[in-house]
Amino acid sequence: MAILWGGRFTKDNDKEMFDFNESLSFDKKLYKVDITGSLAHAAMLGKQGIISEEEAADITKGLKSILDDIEAGALTFDSEAEDIHSFVEAELIKRIGDTGKKLHTGRSRNDQVALDMKLYTRERIDEISALLKDLTDVIIEKMEENTETYMPAFTHLQKAQPTNLAHYLGAYVEMFLRDKDRLKDIRKRLNLSPLGAGALCGTTYDLDRDYVAEKLSFDTATFNSMDSVSDRDYLIETLSAISIIMMHLSRFSEEIIIWNSNEYRFVEIDDAYSTGSSIMPQKKNPDVAELVRGKTGRTYGALISLLTTMKGLPLAYNKDMQEDKEVAFDAMDTVTKCISIFTKMLYTLKFNNDVLEESAMKGYTNATDAADYLVKKGMPFRDAHSVIGRLVLLCLDKKCAIEDLSIVELKELSELFDEDVYDAISLKTCVERRMTKGAPGEIKKAIEHYKELNK
Ligand code: ARG
Repeated sequence: MAILWGGRFTKDNDKEMFDFNESLSFDKKLYKVDITGSLAHAAMLGKQGIISEEEAADITKGLKSILDDIEAGALTFDSEAEDIHSFVEAELIKRIGDTGKKLHTGRSRNDQVALDMKLYTRERIDEISALLKDLTDVIIEKMEENTETYMPAFTHLQKAQPTNLAHYLGAYVEMFLRDKDRLKDIRKRLNLSPLGAGALCGTTYDLDRDYVAEKLSFDTATFNSMDSVSDRDYLIETLSAISIIMMHLSRFSEEIIIWNSNEYRFVEIDDAYSTGSSIMPQKKNPDVAELVRGKTGRTYGALISLLTTMKGLPLAYNKDMQEDKEVAFDAMDTVTKCISIFTKMLYTLKFNNDVLEESAMKGYTNATDAADYLVKKGMPFRDAHSVIGRLVLLCLDKKCAIEDLSIVELKELSELFDEDVYDAISLKTCVERRMTKGAPGEIKKAIEHYKELNK
C-alpha cells in the first residue's frame, strides 16, 4: 500500500480500515488542481533555495508528465494510494526517484487539501457563473420577444392582475443575477491561498507564501495558519449559493410544469426536452423540469451535511473534513447539469401567446383597475373596492367579464362609471399604464438594465 506515513507503524492497515479511510476513489477529481498546486510549491521551494533549482525543474517535469498522462488516459487511478495527494507523490517518486521525495518539504496534506479544494471550488464557481450568464441571456431574449404578450399574474395560484410575459420572466432574471452576484462575493472571500500553513502552525522553512498565492491567482496568502487548514466556510457558502440557485430553478420548473399541464396549456415543451409514457400514448411529460425540481433536494442535503460535519470540530484539521468532498462534488455536478439542460429546455420552449392572453382576459384580473377607475373619479379606495366586489359577484352570476356589462348596468352600481371605463380596464391599459418602477409598463427599461448587468 502506497502510504506516506508508514515509518511509525509496525504493520499494515487492516484492509477494511484502508478502504474506510481512503479518499482516492472520489478525490481523484482533484488531480489537476493538486498538480497545479504542487507545481507552484515546487517553483517556490526552488526560488527560495530550499531545494535546488535543478531539483525544482525535475519535479516540475515529472509533475507535468503525470498530468499529461492522466489527461491522455495513460495513467489511471487504480493504485493503492490513500488519496490523490499520495497518488501524485508516489507516482512522482516512481518517475524521478529521490528528488520526488523533496516535493512535500514544508507542506502538509492539510494545507495541500485546503488549497486543492479552494482551487477546485473557484473553478466550479466560474463555470456555474458562466452557465448562469447563458441562462440569463436566454431569459432576456425571451423577454424581448414578449413585451406585448399579455398574461395573468397570480397570487395564491389565483389570477390576480394582468401583466406581460416579459415582466413575469424578468422576476427570474433578477433571481439569477443575484445568484451570479452571490458567487462573485464568495469567490472574493475564498481567494486567499492557504498553502504554507503546513499541518497547522506554519513551518520553519523560509517559504514565500505570497509568491505561491500570486502564481495561483489568489489575492494574497491567508493570515492564520490554523484557520487556513480548518476553514471550509467558502465551501458551505458555495453549497448555500448552489442551494439557492436550485431553489430558483425549482420554482421556475414548477411554473413550467403547471403551465405545461393540459388545463393551462400556456407553454409547449420541445420534443427534444420531454418524454413519453410507456403505456399512455398521448402523454408528453415535463421531465426536465421535474428532475430539476427533484434534484434540488440533494443540493440542500449537501449543505446541511457539511454544516453538520463542521459544527463540532475543534481546531485544526480533523479527518471528518474529508467528508466535504463527495457531497460538494455532487452538488456542483448537479447544479451545472441542471442549469445547462434547463437553459436548453427554456430556449426551445414555445409560449402559447393566445392562450396566455385569453387567460388574462378571464378571471377579473382587471378588478383592481376598475376600482382604481372609481378612485380617480373621486371615490375613496375602500368604497371603490366594495363596489367592484359587488360588481364581480354580479358578473359571476351573469357568467361574464366586467367589460361585458353595459354602461347602464355599471351605473346601477355607481354613477361615477362613464364610457371611458372600457378603455381604463382594457388589458392593454391595465398592463401598459402600470408604469411604476419595476412594473410591466416599464419592462423595456428593465430589459436594458438587465442586459447591462449580465454583460
Ligand atoms: N484525504 C484527506 C482529506 O480529504 C487529505 C488530508 C489528510 N490529512 C491528514 N492529516 N490525514 O481531507
